[in-house]
Amino acid sequence: MDRDKIVEFLNQDLSGEIEAILVYMRNATIALGEACKAGHDMEEIAFDEMRHAEWLADLIVELGGKPAMTHRELDFGGNSVRDFVRRVVELEKEAIAMYKEHIAAIDDEKVKEKLQHILREEEWHLAEFEELLEEL
Ligand SMILES: [Fe+2]
Ligand SMILES: [Fe+2]
Repeated sequence: MDRDKIVEFLNQDLSGEIEAILVYMRNATIALGEACKAGHDMEEIAFDEMRHAEWLADLIVELGGKPAMTHRELDFGGNSVRDFVRRVVELEKEAIAMYKEHIAAIDDEKVKEKLQHILREEEWHLAEFEELLEEL
């Protein structure tokens, strides 16, 4: 696989991270305003997503690319905290599917290892958010 293709995949992953950061921070702020514990969880996990975004951007630059910093139109979920958490569960599932696909396709060992590390954290996030959803 050539470098440009890897950079393209990494930019797709980066878009997902940026989307997650923005959705989690916005939903966390509202939930915290309602003194809901879910706000702390979403805020904390947004910081993990920022770390992922930084790792991906570093890899892109190392491969000679530029971090695109784009994202889809934001969908925050519905109006309640429960709706917000349902939405972040969806985003984690999408991220997991995309990382698995990219890990299988990319043949650069260093990139693969980093994506595997991120994937493990996304699986942990999904478990946290699913547990949170049951409590709400
Ligand atoms: Fe992430
Ligand atoms: Fe995540």
